[in-house]
Amino acid sequence: TTNRTFTMIKPDAVAEGNSGAIIQMIEEAGFRIVAVKKALLTKERAGQFYAVHSERPFYNDLCAYMSSGAIIPMILEKDNAVADFRKLIGATNPAQAEEGTIRKRFAKSIEANAIHGSDSDDNAKIEGDFFFAGIEQF
Ligand code: CMP
Repeated sequence: TTNRTFTMIKPDAVAEGNSGAIIQMIEEAGFRIVAVKKALLTKERAGQFYAVHSERPFYNDLCAYMSSGAIIPMILEKDNAVADFRKLIGATNPAQAEEGTIRKRFAKSIEANAIHGSDSDDNAKIEGDFFFAGIEQF
């Protein structure tokens, strides 16, 4: 197991000016920012990132949404990073997200849900490498 995960603050949260508050919650929860930048995905690049969901009914909308505005991808470090970060962000559907989670506070809908978190160590590595070169991951 590794101690890193990957996240991105999604277009709804960036556009509404919530990225600072979200990063503050992430740092206060004990995560160190390994890498961070602002980026704008094309629909095609969003489709590559979410290729694992390509057969799902929400895939097309998801790719359009994720390319609709700037995102802030980050690699984060902490003991038990993947699981602890998923706990911090809360359920995919904000209606089911617990009090005190990032999605409870900032997500608008199951699609515009403010933030992404990798679901496994393997995907954290794949997703981090999608956005950041090796020399940016320190
Ligand atoms: P994320 O954790 O980034 O992984 C896949 C994304 O698809 C999810 O967050 C949501 O933004 C989006 N999505 C849209 N509709 C659904 C749905 N019905 N179930 C799960 N994810 C969905």
